[in-house]
Amino acid sequence: MSPATAFQLKISTRPSVIAKPFLKWVGGKRRVLPEIFKDMPSHFQHYYEPFIGGGALFFYMRSHGLLMDNMITISDANLRLIRTYKAIRDDVNGVIERLLVYKERHSKEFFYDLRAVDIDRKRSDADVAAWMIYLNKTGFNGLYRVNKKNKFNTPFGRYTNPKICDIENLRACNHALQGVEIVHAYFDHIHDRVKRDDFVYFDPPYVPLSVTSSFTSYTNDGFGSLEQTILRDLASEIKQRGAFVTLSNSDHPFVRELYTGFKMRSIQVGRSINSKSTARGKVGELIIS
Ligand SMILES: C[S@@+](CC[C@H](N)C(=O)[O-])C[C@H]1O[C@@H](n2cnc3c(N)ncnc32)[C@H](O)[C@@H]1O
Repeated sequence: MSPATAFQLKISTRPSVIAKPFLKWVGGKRRVLPEIFKDMPSHFQHYYEPFIGGGALFFYMRSHGLLMDNMITISDANLRLIRTYKAIRDDVNGVIERLLVYKERHSKEFFYDLRAVDIDRKRSDADVAAWMIYLNKTGFNGLYRVNKKNKFNTPFGRYTNPKICDIENLRACNHALQGVEIVHAYFDHIHDRVKRDDFVYFDPPYVPLSVTSSFTSYTNDGFGSLEQTILRDLASEIKQRGAFVTLSNSDHPFVRELYTGFKMRSIQVGRSINSKSTARGKVGELIIS
């Protein structure tokens, strides 16, 4: 354990219960955590993670006593994801009750019936969370994919025994989320909040390795060169304020050029969730600070 870790353990107030991401999420960081740790500050004040996704780094740090209560803000632009986090924080029993019913009813027909539900209308956060978790655990490859009308359209996955309701981990996640601010927002909402000695981990949608070095267009998920540039400017500005910044992105010439002047380290990462099975395997990633 590094001296930094030991220091933080002393100031944490939350006992260790190991929580893991409750969703499979594209870009999940579980396998690169040790690499990200190498660039983390030895101590810091408020923690921000504005592209929370599956939250691998957050859950790891929280479970190991590295983040302080009431000093954590996680956020994402995906409203259903954020409502899921809130439900697990505030009504984990409601989420578990629903998932146990879905587990009993699990079948291909049930998957498509539930997928078709208009989940955003007049439903509680616990309804949204159970819907997200069930579809994530039983849908093809754990992909969260929506069409232009925001309708979830991942097909049924062929799992023999999907873990639809992992009660122990959901309770551990509930515990980890106490005292955490959960916000539905674009990443730039932190612009006016981050102060000196705060720590921000940015894990944005990556620049696709398939695009040419003159990457200018928008990607499917609406995160194109403009958003990547706004993010770089934000990272630069908060660094100048004296905050600590770590950022992940693909090892692509566009990213290297964008972050000229930052510290950069290239690592090789195995990717397991990808809609194209041919695109699985090791890819280059940059850890930028
Ligand atoms: C690479 S994933 C994060 C993966 C996460 N670190 C994990 O361990 O699972 C990127 C996330 O950014 C979110 N996102 C996309 N555009 C965004 C924006 N403009 N502002 C905030 N979040 C955004 C997506 O919803 C997605 O959850």
